[in-house]
Amino acid sequence: PRKIIIDTDPGQDDAVAILLALASPELELLGITAVAGNVPLALTARNARIVCELAGRTDIRVFAGCDRPMNRDLVTAEYVHGKSGLDGIALPEPTMPLAEGHAVDFLIQTLHDEPEGTVTLCPIGPLTNIATAFQRAPGIVPRVAEIVLMGGAYFEVGNVTPAAEFNIYVDPEAARIVFGSGVPLVVMPLDVTHKVLTTRARVEAFRALGTRVGHAVASWTDFFERYDMAKYGSEGAPLHDPCTIAYLLQPDLFSGRHLNVEIETEGRFTTGMTVADWWRVTDRPANAMFMRDVDADGFYRLLTERLARL
Ligand code: BDR
Ligand code: CA
Repeated sequence: PRKIIIDTDPGQDDAVAILLALASPELELLGITAVAGNVPLALTARNARIVCELAGRTDIRVFAGCDRPMNRDLVTAEYVHGKSGLDGIALPEPTMPLAEGHAVDFLIQTLHDEPEGTVTLCPIGPLTNIATAFQRAPGIVPRVAEIVLMGGAYFEVGNVTPAAEFNIYVDPEAARIVFGSGVPLVVMPLDVTHKVLTTRARVEAFRALGTRVGHAVASWTDFFERYDMAKYGSEGAPLHDPCTIAYLLQPDLFSGRHLNVEIETEGRFTTGMTVADWWRVTDRPANAMFMRDVDADGFYRLLTERLARL
């Protein structure tokens, strides 16, 4: 199996991404690193463990990481995810302890110990933990196999400001370090995630699994749909973060362009924007596979079939 580390700020859609990974034998989850984002760190570190326990996987190590962006105050998104970050269903407080040590030290140690080019990083929150690890231990950067992340936007532009997507906006300095690292990047921007909408039929398929996991996922999507459908007038809500894990399982569900992306850190209106050179109007070298399209039915088929295993 392919070794991955999920770096996350759960978040209902983060939770679904974690569940999809845990349900998939092609992936070996070496650990989960929690970061401040949707809600403060204490809650993301708690929520990640709640999700592991829901899946019966108390063996997964969950590390707490950075509690604030590199150079800025934390911006959270309770207005989307609720006060706990995982609103929508009451789940028991976790009993599994946090793993000992800081998430950044775990990232550095793991990338150092595992054979070069064998560990893939899946960041689905602000990039603070990853960038801090790269800054502190530059020797690990060329050892990363690939980074498959959720963040940014091109044609769909922003969801937190008119120009910026939440994960990049919260810590643009961290994003700039990651996008400039030279590690092969696969990016799932809003252009993709706004195409995987939770329609009624898709949510009912989760519920019809008749399992605790199916019920939780249906309840979470019911919860954040309230916000997204009012905002976008769409048929359902985007299930952003599981796109990263789905890509690892079935890359042919997605298509996009290999292009140059720069992160705006100083814009008056555009801080956190992913400036993607879609039309190749510069000669800046390509640094990311920036996805744009997805087979949404195929994505939901994969997700539902996998969640049924938990
Ligand atoms: C991203 O922001 C968070 O609210 C979601 O979990 C996702 O990672 C979408 O912009
Ligand atoms: Ca997230």
